[in-house]
Amino acid sequence: MSEPPLFDRLPEQYFTRILAAAVAARDAPGPRLIDLGRGNPDLPPPAHAVAALREAALETGTVAVHGYPPFQGHPDLRAAIAERYRADHGVELDPEREVAVVPGTKTGIMLATLAAAGDGDAVLLPDPGYPDYRSAVALAAAREVALPLDPSAGHQPDLGAVPAADRERARLLVLNYPSNPLAVCAAPGTFDAAVAFGREHGCWLLNDLAYGFLAFDGRRGASVLESEGARDVAVELWSPSKIYGMAGWRIGFAVGAAELVGRIKTLLDHTAAGVWTGLQRGLVAALRGDQAHVAQRREVYRLRRDALVGSLRAAGGEIAAPEGTFYAWWRPPPGLTPERLLAEHRLAVAPGEGFGARGAGWVRLSLALPDADVGEGAQRLALAVAGALSEAP
Ligand SMILES: Cc1ncc(COP(=O)(O)O)c(C=O)c1O
Repeated sequence: MSEPPLFDRLPEQYFTRILAAAVAARDAPGPRLIDLGRGNPDLPPPAHAVAALREAALETGTVAVHGYPPFQGHPDLRAAIAERYRADHGVELDPEREVAVVPGTKTGIMLATLAAAGDGDAVLLPDPGYPDYRSAVALAAAREVALPLDPSAGHQPDLGAVPAADRERARLLVLNYPSNPLAVCAAPGTFDAAVAFGREHGCWLLNDLAYGFLAFDGRRGASVLESEGARDVAVELWSPSKIYGMAGWRIGFAVGAAELVGRIKTLLDHTAAGVWTGLQRGLVAALRGDQAHVAQRREVYRLRRDALVGSLRAAGGEIAAPEGTFYAWWRPPPGLTPERLLAEHRLAVAPGEGFGARGAGWVRLSLALPDADVGEGAQRLALAVAGALSEAP
C-alpha cells in the first residue's frame, strides 16, 4: 500500500504553532507573558568558540574559509568530535567512517531517518517524544509506531511489548535520553536492550543525545555507543545548540554505525553543500577548549529546576524533579489547562499532546529562560496550582 503524497503526510509543525500562539498572546493586555513553552537556549556560546568563528570570517579572499566546505565536514572537526567522544564516553570513533557533520541535529534526524527507513517501513518513536521525529517519518514515507514511555516504567521503553508484526517491519528505533519532554535519563539497561533489539530484528537504532551534557544529581547523559555491539546498529546525534548555546549556528553531528553514517553522508552530498567553515572552526574550538563552562551551564539549569520544582511543590503541586534536560514534565491538577494558564496567569506552556497521544493531560515547562523569568513563571504556576487545588471538590 503506497503512502499519501508528502504534503498530506507531513504533520503540523508543533513548535511553529505554539510559538505563533505565544507571539499572538504577547501583545494582549495584562501582565507580561512568560513563555515557558519554548526551548531556545538563553546562555551564549563560549567566548573561545566565537573568537574562532570571528577569525575565520575575517579570512576574506580565501577559498579555504569562504568557498564550499567538504560536505561531510572538515577532517579537523571530525577528529575533534572523536576526541570529545573519547574524553566524555570512552568511545573510540573512526573520524573517516563513523562521523558526519550535519547542519543541526534536527536535519540530522531527518537524514538518519531517511537513511534507515523507506516506504511503509515501521519506525518506533518514543511516545511522548520530540515531535520532529514524526516529521522525519513522514518525509521517509515510513509508518510511525508509538513506543509507550509510561511514568510507571520510569519513562523507559518495554521493547518486549512491541507487537510481533511491528517488530518484524521495524527498520528504525528512535530513543532520546536525556529525554525531551520527559526530562529523564536512560535507566541502566535501556540502551543495552535497544542494541539487542536492533541486532535481533535488523533494525537501526538512533539515539538523540541532544541533551547529553544536561543530567543532574550525579547522573550522566550516557552515549548509546558505550553499549556492547552498538556501533554495528546505532547512530547518535549530538547538539552543539544545547551544550554550547549555538542553536542559531545550525551545526551538529552524527556518529556511530559506519554504514548508516555513510548513507547520511551520501544524503548530505545530494542535499547540502556542507556547513560553513567558520562554523566548523568555531565548533572545533568549543570541542577542544576548556569545558568548565559546560558544568557552569548545568548548574544554572539545576538552580532553575530547583526553583520551579520547589515552588510547585510548596503550592501543593506534584512534579517529578527533572533528571536532565532544560525541561520539566508536569501533569497539572484537574482543570488547570494550558488555555487557563495563558488566559488567567499569562503563562505559555507546551501542551503535552503535541508530544504524542500519551502526553495528553501533561505539559512541558522550559527552563531555557533568564533566571528572573523562570522565577516569575514558577511563582505564577504556584499561584495557579494553589487556586486550582482550592477549587477541587
Ligand atoms: C530532542 C531534540 N532533538 C533535537 C533538537 C534539535 O536540535 P538542533 O538545534 O541541534 O537541531 C532538539 C531541539 O530542541 C531537541 O529537543
